Amino acid sequence: MASHVTSTPHEGGDTKRAVDPAAPILLFDSGVGGLTVLEEVRKALPDAPIIYTADAAGLPYGTKTEAQIAARVAGLLGRMAERFHPRLICIACNTASTIALGMVRDVLEVPVVGTVPAIKPAAAMTRSGVIGLLGTPATIRQAYVDRLEQEFAADKRLLRHGAPSLVDAAEAKLRGEPVDQNAIAQAVDALRSQPDGGAIDTVVLACTHFPLVQDELARAFGPDVRFVHGAQGIARQVSRLVAGQEYARQVPDQALFTGSGDIPEAYRMKLAQYGLLEVHRI
Ligand code: DGL
Repeated sequence: MASHVTSTPHEGGDTKRAVDPAAPILLFDSGVGGLTVLEEVRKALPDAPIIYTADAAGLPYGTKTEAQIAARVAGLLGRMAERFHPRLICIACNTASTIALGMVRDVLEVPVVGTVPAIKPAAAMTRSGVIGLLGTPATIRQAYVDRLEQEFAADKRLLRHGAPSLVDAAEAKLRGEPVDQNAIAQAVDALRSQPDGGAIDTVVLACTHFPLVQDELARAFGPDVRFVHGAQGIARQVSRLVAGQEYARQVPDQALFTGSGDIPEAYRMKLAQYGLLEVHRI
């Protein structure tokens, strides 16, 4: 399942001596979607110091232009790398990865793992040959997705839908608010109503926010649909790249949000459940 995870090829070597044990793994998303990746990274690397960065001031990315997204991602990650010297950066966001991964790797020295839609495993899973893909509007129009489709699902039907309202639904759920069932129903209907949509048996969650509302999507799609996303594969790739390194957590793991204003208590409590005990604005 390595296809939906990408990393810089030269970074496997003997990094053990070079890496400061206190150096964090930095996970990045526009919002709380990357927590679905963090959960898997934690399982794989429980001792690794973590900084989770959310570009809350830029949320949502999925309705922005490629130029806007690339500028925000490259700028913010550049500043974060200078300030925190991470051992590895994980772009836990399909939108940012499909648009800016190459650029970020070109400008940063640090290993960078990205995530792209899990089309390859979905193509292996589908029995009907019809796959649904839910992402942000920016992700589903990327040539990167066209290439994955050509490479791994050329003999399947891949039906795409950009669903920014599911990002809002996931953010709301994490704040402890009710999930907008209309947003769920609309996303399902937008796939089901496409030609052959009734035969969808596998859905790619091509936005890291969407696993947060997978239960709601599963209820709306019905029992015959299975879901696939990249979080476990990303965690495996991160683990491979830091294999053999040592860890010494010197400060509590933190979540850093761009933007201003108070961070709601409900949010802090949820973040603490993911082991992010300190929450600050940057
Ligand atoms: N979590 C992000 C992704 O994986 C996108 C959310 C947004 O629109 O900002 O694509």
